[in-house]
Amino acid sequence: MIAATIDGKKISQDIRTKVENRVVKMKNNGVIPGLAVVLVGDNQASKTYVAMKQKACEKMGIHSVLIELPGDLTEQQLLDQVIELNQDDAIHGILVQLPLPNHIDEVNVIESIDPKKDVDGFHPINAGRLMTGGEAFFPCTPYGIIEMLKNQKIELNGKHAVVVGRSNIVGKPMGQLLLKENATVTYCHSRTKDLAYHTKQADVVIAAVGVRHMITADHIKKGAVVIDVGMNRDNDGKLCGDVDYEGCLSKASAITPVPGGVGPMTITMLLANTVESAERSFA
Ligand code: GUN
Repeated sequence: MIAATIDGKKISQDIRTKVENRVVKMKNNGVIPGLAVVLVGDNQASKTYVAMKQKACEKMGIHSVLIELPGDLTEQQLLDQVIELNQDDAIHGILVQLPLPNHIDEVNVIESIDPKKDVDGFHPINAGRLMTGGEAFFPCTPYGIIEMLKNQKIELNGKHAVVVGRSNIVGKPMGQLLLKENATVTYCHSRTKDLAYHTKQADVVIAAVGVRHMITADHIKKGAVVIDVGMNRDNDGKLCGDVDYEGCLSKASAITPVPGGVGPMTITMLLANTVESAERSFA
C-alpha cells in the first residue's frame, strides 16, 4: 500500500476561496473583518509566523494590524494593549503570539482577551465551550485538521484516534474535537509507557510532539491515517515533521507531508475564525 498524500495547500486554498466570498459579502454590507496581531519581543520564529498570518489576511481583504511591542514591557502594559483592542470596533479578532517573555504570565494575558475576539480559541471560555457546547472559537491547528479529514472524507465516527502530545494549543483541543466527531480518543505524551503499543491500535494518529521523526512505520498499523503537526528542523536546517514520512508511506493509507500538510490549514482557520467573529458581531 502506498499512502495518499493529503495536500494541505490545496484543501487550504479551497477553504480560503469560500472564506474570501464571505469577506466580499460582508464588505458589501459595510463591514471589513479586522485582525490584530500582537507580537512581543523579537523571537525570530514568531516574527516569521506573524508575517505569514498578516500576508494571508491582506491577500483575502481582511484588515490586519500588527502591534509590535518591546520584550521588556510590563505585563500590565500588555494587558492595557489587549483591553484597548477589546474595545476597538474595527477589530474582530485578537491574537497574542506565543510564547511570551518569561516575566509575563501567559494565562493572565489570554484571559484578558474578549472571548468573542479570541480567534485563537485559547481563552478558558472557548476551551470550556469546546467541551460543553455553545458558541466558541476552536484552536486553529486542531480545527484545521478536522476540516482536512472531513475534506478527505476520512471517517472519524467510531474510529480510534490516538493523539500524541498534550499541549493546550494542539493536543488537548485535538482530542476534544475528535470526540465531538464521535471518535474514541487516546492521549499519549512524554510520560506514556510503550508509545508504539498505543499508536499501533490507532485508525488515526495525530503527532504533535515537536520531536523529529518520533513516529516511525513501527508505530502505526497498516492502513492508518497519519497526521503530522510537527515543525522541526533536521541537521541541514530543512523543515521536517514528527513523523518519518518516507518510512510510513508504504504502511499508512493517508499521510500529511511537512511542509504542505497541516501548516497551511492553521492559518486558513485563523482567517475563517476572524471572518466568523466579524459575522457574529453584526448578526
Ligand atoms: N504560537 C505558536 N502557535 C501559535 C498559535 O496558533 N497562536 C498563537 N497566538 N501563538 C502561537
